[in-house]
Amino acid sequence: MTNTNRIDWKMPLALLAISAIPLAAGIARLAGLASGLDGSADNARFVAAPSPVILHILSASLFSILGALQFSSGLRQLSPTWHRVSGRIVLASGILVALSGLWLTVMYPIPPELQGGLLYGVRVFVGVAMLLSIYCAVAAVARRDIATHRAWMIRAFALGQGAGMQVVVLLPWMLLIGKPSMLHRDMLMSLAWLINLLVAEMAIQMGSP
Ligand code: HEM
Repeated sequence: MTNTNRIDWKMPLALLAISAIPLAAGIARLAGLASGLDGSADNARFVAAPSPVILHILSASLFSILGALQFSSGLRQLSPTWHRVSGRIVLASGILVALSGLWLTVMYPIPPELQGGLLYGVRVFVGVAMLLSIYCAVAAVARRDIATHRAWMIRAFALGQGAGMQVVVLLPWMLLIGKPSMLHRDMLMSLAWLINLLVAEMAIQMGSP
C-alpha cells in the first residue's frame, strides 16, 4: 500500500464538498470586484468598501481548504510537520475569517431582507465564539492536551463552515417553497450553524477522525 492510499480522503472531501458553493460564490465576487461591478444596490456595499470582503473571501478559502485537510488522520500521521505548518495557517486564517465576518456584520449596510436582527445577533455570536474556540484550541495544544485541542478545532471549523451548511438548508426551501421571508431566512441561516454545532459535538463524542 502506498502512502497516498493510507491517507483517508473521505472526511476532507466531504468537508470540501460542503464549502464548494460558498467558495465558488467567493471567486465570483472577487472576479466581479476585479472587473468593476455596476454599482447596483445589490453590489453597492461591496464596491464602496471592497477590502473587508476581499480579506474575508481569501481567508475563508484558505480556512476551508487547508482546514478540511487537517481532518485526515492519515495525512496527520504521514506528515506531522504538514499538520503543524498547515494548522498555523488554518488558525491565522480562522481568526481573519471571524474578525472580517464580524466587521461585515456590523459595518456593512446589509439590506434587512439579507440580514435581520436575529441573523445579526447570531453572526456576532458566531464570530466571537469562533475566536474563543481558536483561543481554547491554541491554549490546549500549548499544554499538550491534544484531545481538547481537537475538540475546540472541530468547534471552530463547524462555526466557520456555516456558509456551506446554509446552502444545504436554504436551497431546498427555495426550490420547494420559494424565496424565504426575512424572518424565515434569518432562522434558516441560524439553523445551519446550529446543525453544524450539533454535528461537531457528535464528532467530538465519537472521537474520529
Ligand atoms: C469559511 C467560512 C466562510 C465562507 C466560505 C464565507 C464566504 C463568504 C462569501 C463568499 C461572502 C460574499 C458574499 C457575496 O458576495 O454576496 C461572504 C460574506 C459575508 N460573510 Fe462570510 N464566509 C464564511 C464565514 C463567515 C462567518 C463565520 C461569518 C460571521 C461571523 C460571516 C459573515 C459574513 C457577512 C456578514 C458577509 C456579508 C454579507 C452581505 O453583505 O450580504 N462569514 N462570506
